[in-house]
Amino acid sequence: MHPIDTTPHLPANRRGHDLRLGLTGRRATMTRRRASVVMAVLAVVGGTVLTACDGPDTTAVAIEDVEFTTPLAIPPLAESRIASDGTRVFELTAQEGTTVFRDGVGTSTWGFNGSYLGPTLRAERGERVAVEVTNALDERTTVHWHGMHLPPEMDGGPHQVIEPGEMWRPTWLVDQPAATLWYHPHPHGETERHVYRGLAGLFLLEDPAVSPELPREYGVDDIPVVVQDKEFDDDGQLTLGTGRQEPGLMGSTIMVNGTIGAYQKVTTERVRLRVLNASTARTYNIGFDDDRVFALVGTDGGLLAGPHETTRVRLSPGERAELVVAVEPGETTTLNSDSPALGRVAAPAAYGGEDVVPILELRAAQSLAPSPELPEKLADVPRIPESEATVTRDFQVAVRMINGRRMDPERIDEVVTVGATEIWEVESIDPFTHNVHIHDVQFQVLDIDGEAPPPELAGWKDTVYLEPRRDYRLIMRFEDYTDPDSPYMYHCHLLRHEDEGLMGQFVVVGAGQEAASSVVTDGGGHGGH
Ligand code: C2O
Ligand code: CU
Repeated sequence: MHPIDTTPHLPANRRGHDLRLGLTGRRATMTRRRASVVMAVLAVVGGTVLTACDGPDTTAVAIEDVEFTTPLAIPPLAESRIASDGTRVFELTAQEGTTVFRDGVGTSTWGFNGSYLGPTLRAERGERVAVEVTNALDERTTVHWHGMHLPPEMDGGPHQVIEPGEMWRPTWLVDQPAATLWYHPHPHGETERHVYRGLAGLFLLEDPAVSPELPREYGVDDIPVVVQDKEFDDDGQLTLGTGRQEPGLMGSTIMVNGTIGAYQKVTTERVRLRVLNASTARTYNIGFDDDRVFALVGTDGGLLAGPHETTRVRLSPGERAELVVAVEPGETTTLNSDSPALGRVAAPAAYGGEDVVPILELRAAQSLAPSPELPEKLADVPRIPESEATVTRDFQVAVRMINGRRMDPERIDEVVTVGATEIWEVESIDPFTHNVHIHDVQFQVLDIDGEAPPPELAGWKDTVYLEPRRDYRLIMRFEDYTDPDSPYMYHCHLLRHEDEGLMGQFVVVGAGQEAASSVVTDGGGHGGH
């Protein structure tokens, strides 16, 4: 085994840090080279020998200084047509392209209907939608509707493969609260690379029946903020690094909607920011550089019951936060991330735990149009009563496994009966960062180590950060769709972890029904194997 040199893509001023080996309590100071060797081991053994004592790269990434000189790109709203049966039909094409992020240098990227990221899809509760997804790449991919309640065949997980040149047309009825959802590829073992190259977009759901007065003019006072960290090589190309660092790439360049050093003009007294962490590994602690108070109004699966005034909200990969912030005429303030508190993570610097990350400058105009006052009540978010739960499942996350098993696309791990309310009790025993995302449902955090969730975790969630060695009890209802042959996924949304096997599969069956004994990947009727 030879050491993998991870230095070329690293900023020169990276510094060494103590590595705390969390589970053993031992302490050691590693040199960079030594850390690289450990990373190489992570890659070479493919995980069987991995123990929680294998440390992460312990050096913090130096976040690039930026000047906010480029207007924020706003992903266009996707066009759609209404088919004769009333279905709202969108078209997405995953394609290669070249994007100039800076310095006039072309970077090869992937995007939907363009060279980087994808358009924002928008639909209303009660509408039937269809998306015609064409794969114009040279390799297979899939497109998953993250946060959406829909049949497993339409979910776009690793089994709904779209071969190069093929088209896949999932269709479903939108029936869930208004929310900021998103879409991205989910090919088995390749999700990190596909998302990192640029395949991601927002999918906004509206509910005309529950429509509190919030800023809602897309791109004007309702702004999409897709946050990603990247690393460029000397040729201006995106790199995921040469080593296999834990927990995946922590990039030194931050972009929003594909814009580096972005500013957004604000022309209204209040602005709503729909923040999506579409990074592959980095967790942010979102707020403003002047620590101003903002209102958190929504999380992954919908609006909160009422605005929660705060100065920071932690967002791990895949999570969303909708916030409303007030500005004064003529001022500027910067959305940033400040040292995410990662819980009992060893060597938190390696996970961005010490990073201060400038994200997006807001520039308020000299005169601001009035905005509605924030309503006290936003939505009904009834707590799912614990007494309703009939099944409790335990999940222990360790290294790249859930309950000692890695993802096997042919194995069904859990069988759920439709209509059931269940409690999923999830604990990460690793001293590094993980989160958990469950397809098909929006869940509620029942408690964490027996304590009621904080306000930012009291609404609908589909992804939640797991502080190490804490017991997260999540409660959820499995409704409407059954299919013994076609699984949904649950997994860590740190994409390298997911790709390396930190994922499981569940099916939802009718009462008395059994799961198929194994799962066959198909291409939704197109291609596949
Ligand atoms: Cu956003 Cu299974 O993923
Ligand atoms: Cu993980």
